[in-house]
Amino acid sequence: MRNNQLAGKKILLGVTGSIAIYKALELIRLFIKAGAEVKVLMSEDAKRFITPLTFEAISQNKVLHGDTESWSEGLSHIHTGKWADIFVIAPASVNTINKLSHGIADNLLTQTAIAFTKTIVLAPSANTNMMLNAITQESLLKLEALGYEIIAPQSKLLACNDEGVGALADVEQIFYHCARLLLKEAFWSEREVVITGGGTMEKIDDVRCLTNFSSGKQASALALAFYLRGANVTLISSGETPQINAINTLHVKSTAELQAALLSQMQYVTKNEKTPYLLMAAAVSDYVPIKTHEGKLKKEELGETYTLELKRNIDVLTSLPKRGFKMVGFKAEMDESKALANAGAMLEKKGLDAVCLNVLKEQNSFGSSKNEVHFITASHIQKFALAGKFEIAEQIVEQCSHL
Ligand code: CTP
Repeated sequence: MRNNQLAGKKILLGVTGSIAIYKALELIRLFIKAGAEVKVLMSEDAKRFITPLTFEAISQNKVLHGDTESWSEGLSHIHTGKWADIFVIAPASVNTINKLSHGIADNLLTQTAIAFTKTIVLAPSANTNMMLNAITQESLLKLEALGYEIIAPQSKLLACNDEGVGALADVEQIFYHCARLLLKEAFWSEREVVITGGGTMEKIDDVRCLTNFSSGKQASALALAFYLRGANVTLISSGETPQINAINTLHVKSTAELQAALLSQMQYVTKNEKTPYLLMAAAVSDYVPIKTHEGKLKKEELGETYTLELKRNIDVLTSLPKRGFKMVGFKAEMDESKALANAGAMLEKKGLDAVCLNVLKEQNSFGSSKNEVHFITASHIQKFALAGKFEIAEQIVEQCSHL
């Protein structure tokens, strides 16, 4: 993500009486690092675990709780609620969850929630039996149906030494979920976007393969950029992937695996009403071994020289039924004088809506963290100057919305 991507966003963080409360400190740090302003609201039970001073120090804002509530200084459940763009309750105890589902407003935190008109995020945390209790489960279902965003707890060894579901979701997952809620755009919201990335790996024998230097970093950055704008992202890659559970990530190696994954995903996503997108950033081998040797090729048997016979690979992009997708291809070129012409020819030949041309130089070679891209359509060419792959991804997302 970009530094300061959440600049100007106001987050109200409610913390309740759960042992996972210490993780809220890390969550605040992530929000602040991303440029957001954070105010903390503590339930009275929360104060038994951590003092308000700790939250005040880390959020750099006065903490709202029973003793600090002040109508004259704008520190009340109404003022603070109106100030915030989003209300995140993490950790949300079973007591708070069950109260909220019944509309009980008997403390500052539940009063703030019931008066809050924007999105409320709940990240539950409790002992397994408390979490799986039918009342809690019913409350969570009810709250979700009412528009609360629930970030499911994880299953692991809990602080109470029981093993099972109930642990607070990873702080990074809560952070990205909230960042997306704050950054999403109507155009991309719930739109299906399929992205491929990384180099294909074609088996020579059971221990060797033919591949290339593509790292999958640009595809990973694209997945994050589309996700943050609200798209339903599927990333099919052999390389780097963002660690975000809500991004449907499929790991593939060979061209055959890539093609099969693409075919099934494209069939599945066309059920959505918004025009879906495919961004084909994978570096697919143009040639593959004619046959794969079973077991391991031995040099004693191969001799002093060894010739590997290759055949032209299928072109995955042109093999795909379009199924109403907007299609964006990627082209890597080294000869600057022919790059634009080659990319333009590919646009037409492969029937694409756009091509992202990457003229490889030292500073944006395969695997580097930067890129320089020309975004080419039938009617215009837009150049994105050398920048980090996430910044480039954001510009690609922007241009894609005009296709
Ligand atoms: N592609 C594909 N199947 C292949 C080769 C490429 O689907 N067998 C896709 C890539 O994912 C990319 C685009 O097609 O989106 C690249 O097209 P191509 O003309 O092959 O580009 P280069 O490999 O850069 O071209 P060349 O081999 O001519 O340098």
